[in-house]
Amino acid sequence: MKRYLLTFLLGGLSLGLAAQQKFELSHGPYLQEVTGDAATVVFQTSAKAFSWVEVKPHEAGEEESVRCHATEDGLRMAWNTFNSIRLKGLEPGKSYDYRIVSKEMKDFQPYKVTFGDSIATPWHTFSTLDPRREGASIFITSDMHGDAAKLEKLLCLADYKTCDAFFYAGDMMNYMDRPELPFTSFIDLSVRLFATSVPFEVVRGNHETRGCLARTFSSYFPKEDGKIYGAYRLGDIMVVMLDSGEDKADSHPVYAGLTDYDAYRAEQAEWLKQLVQTPAYRDARYRIVISHFPLVMPQRNKDEQEWRGWEDAIRKFLPVLNGTGVDLLVSGHTHRYYYFEPGADGNDFPVLVQGAYSAARLDVKDGKIHLKVVDTDGKTLKETVLDANR
Ligand SMILES: [Fe+2]
Repeated sequence: MKRYLLTFLLGGLSLGLAAQQKFELSHGPYLQEVTGDAATVVFQTSAKAFSWVEVKPHEAGEEESVRCHATEDGLRMAWNTFNSIRLKGLEPGKSYDYRIVSKEMKDFQPYKVTFGDSIATPWHTFSTLDPRREGASIFITSDMHGDAAKLEKLLCLADYKTCDAFFYAGDMMNYMDRPELPFTSFIDLSVRLFATSVPFEVVRGNHETRGCLARTFSSYFPKEDGKIYGAYRLGDIMVVMLDSGEDKADSHPVYAGLTDYDAYRAEQAEWLKQLVQTPAYRDARYRIVISHFPLVMPQRNKDEQEWRGWEDAIRKFLPVLNGTGVDLLVSGHTHRYYYFEPGADGNDFPVLVQGAYSAARLDVKDGKIHLKVVDTDGKTLKETVLDANR
């Protein structure tokens, strides 16, 4: 449903512009949900089209490429602009090349389709996850609030070219009220720098839940299970991504009765209780949790109604995570940098709170997490080494 709504909105936008535009990719491609045997390629065309992805092993010739389409109910997706195409049947720890091929559709009659221009992008290379992989270099930031230039500065200061994984921990935009905003806020920049070859993960912040198009937000970051929250093994690292919702109570007048985050956080807490019992979680050498809200709250004396949602996230998630060997929680939201040691506020693991002007780089190797936080002036706010908590 979300995909149709997004396609409709983006399609309507592109129809109005189509007369002046040459046919091209207007956004992407970017990778999402790369696993050991699959990857999703996301892109948008400037006009309605019939698009697909061609993929081949990195060392193979072009003639060995295979076409991958998004299909539903026997129909290959067409007459659309926003595309999310899952490449399946890949092998773990292997490099692949892919490119987008798209044919503009000028007219679409029941028995006559009129195609326009065709395009093929250059080949891009990516690698599937290798379950035997040890360690990684991870970039995490949050709270950019639509400032792509600031994000680029922080990516460069953290030496993004040497990072293997990227996480945006929420509030990367102010509101979700225009379909272009996720692209202009952080996706287009990510595509230009790395996201054609390395995926980024989005952990939703409270600002991305606001606005008339908030219900389409997750469509830009498609997941097979349709959820925004989730977890996966990046080699020997367990990464858990929580969706902490809004900071105020569901009953707060600003939400006009349109939110149901208490129940949603309860659903996640139940999922989390199951997750921490799984071999994937228990056997991981490292465990990193990402949540937009810090799961500690230094502002305990604030008005109950004002922070009721945030407190609910702490009450539901923190007791489940305590005692399970979490090495580090990375969060954002407060716009100020904090680092809380275990025991600061009921947490048995360290909690890093990203400021709105900083980013964290985690170099995970040899049983240790080398944590460095830099701000936009290049100043190091924190540099420490954590021993993995097994
Ligand atoms: Fe926030």
